[in-house]
Amino acid sequence: MIQYLNIQGLASKSRIKRIEIKFDISSQLSLMDFLIKNGITVASSCAGEGRCRKCIVNENVLSCQINLKQFILNEVENTIEISYL
Ligand code: FES
Repeated sequence: MIQYLNIQGLASKSRIKRIEIKFDISSQLSLMDFLIKNGITVASSCAGEGRCRKCIVNENVLSCQINLKQFILNEVENTIEISYL
């Protein structure tokens, strides 16, 4: 199981941060809230209601609509790519 996530900025072509995953405190969070809690800027104009599609990561994942735990179980790679970072 993934123990950490690398945040990769596509605009800057650099790794922004490596975040350790602590399931006891983070697993109930949406991926978007987890990223924000760890200092990563996530674009949004609908406050996480799933309408604006600005919070997309990894080309097609709405970060406000997926739980961190679901994301980790579904992903094979431990990298989150964010286009505008
Ligand atoms: S924050 Fe608007 S769709 Fe995710």
